[in-house]
Amino acid sequence: MAHSPRKGSPARWAAVVLPPLCLGGLMAWTAGVFSPAAISPSHFMQRFQKAGALDRGFRRAHAKGMCATGWFDPTPEGRALSRSGIFKGEHLPVMGRFSLAPPLPYLPDNPAAARSLAMQIRSSTGDDWRMALVDAPLQVMRDIADAFAFFKTARLDPATNKPDPAAIRAYAAQRPWLKTAFEQAKSHKQASDLTNDTYNSLDSFILTDEAGKKTPVRWAAVAQEPFSPAEGSSANDKNYLFKRLVQTLDQRPLRWDIVATIAREGDPINDPSQPWDEADQKVTVGTVTFTKAYSEDESPCGPMVFDPTILPDGISTSDDPLLALRSSVYMKSYATRSAEHKTPSMVTPGDITHPTLTPDGKGQ
Ligand code: HEM
Repeated sequence: MAHSPRKGSPARWAAVVLPPLCLGGLMAWTAGVFSPAAISPSHFMQRFQKAGALDRGFRRAHAKGMCATGWFDPTPEGRALSRSGIFKGEHLPVMGRFSLAPPLPYLPDNPAAARSLAMQIRSSTGDDWRMALVDAPLQVMRDIADAFAFFKTARLDPATNKPDPAAIRAYAAQRPWLKTAFEQAKSHKQASDLTNDTYNSLDSFILTDEAGKKTPVRWAAVAQEPFSPAEGSSANDKNYLFKRLVQTLDQRPLRWDIVATIAREGDPINDPSQPWDEADQKVTVGTVTFTKAYSEDESPCGPMVFDPTILPDGISTSDDPLLALRSSVYMKSYATRSAEHKTPSMVTPGDITHPTLTPDGKGQ
């Protein structure tokens, strides 16, 4: 059974979105994210603006996207790790958004762009679990200062749609603690599609079981589709990644296992730029099945904010400083874009209804 899109009234959206946003903002404030540093969420907005974000109602990052709906089915292993209502055994609705990571809403699909998957899973008793995952193996920043510098460095050259390699080299050279993260980014093999990619939380979270035992984890949504590597050149169809996702969903459901990597003694919980022990235990806590695609212009996922600090009882944030930062900046992006007149997204309702690739679109 598909989870159909609903157009919410502004009042409904305010009711759904504002309480968690206010909580996130409060959390960032109490965590002291923006003090003593004089860098505020507005400064990040300026960074994204300079990197090509448009003031036309789009997200300030991960601006090009498409929505999908489906289901989450938890495993008994997930229930053993977390007392959350999400893992009680119910078949739960999922709202997802696939996106390209840059702040450019009209970026042509290309193999180089990092891809992402955001999800909201809700239980019948009001649990709300939001995730925002990317396909990078490690985060190339560890704190607010890195993040602020990174978003300046990573802006894409409009001619190549790639960042300036010299600027990235300089950013990395000034931060030896990011050596492994950059090495892993370099050796990371990009998947051919959105459908067979694996998306990572990078930040760590804490699961609490019925007895109060706490387990630090990192998440991944691991594609059940077989991996195949991206081709070297960009396809001529500017929406080929999204159209291939729609075409596949027209034919069959797509599944991702939600896998928790369990930290062992010595794994850094508060630093998403550092790897964990390769031998760490991995537990599949559930499976997400997407069944239907929507343009973000006709789905409630369009306006939604996938703040990763909106979590149900039984899942909580770790002391990773990027989580509180993200919450504050996502709230600012949400508030800014909500006040703007939205222009049509690049993946239109027509692409969803008739996802025809151009003849040279390296499609099927
Ligand atoms: C572990 C690190 C991070 C991951 C995995 C991540 C992932 C994501 C994903 C998947 C989205 C798209 C959500 C959607 O589809 O609505 C997103 C949105 C966004 N991200 Fe991040 N992100 C990370 C760090 C950051 C940082 C450090 C900043 C800036 C300080 C940032 C700024 C943003 C903004 C502004 C949005 C748009 C929010 C909105 O308007 O809804 N992200 N992120």
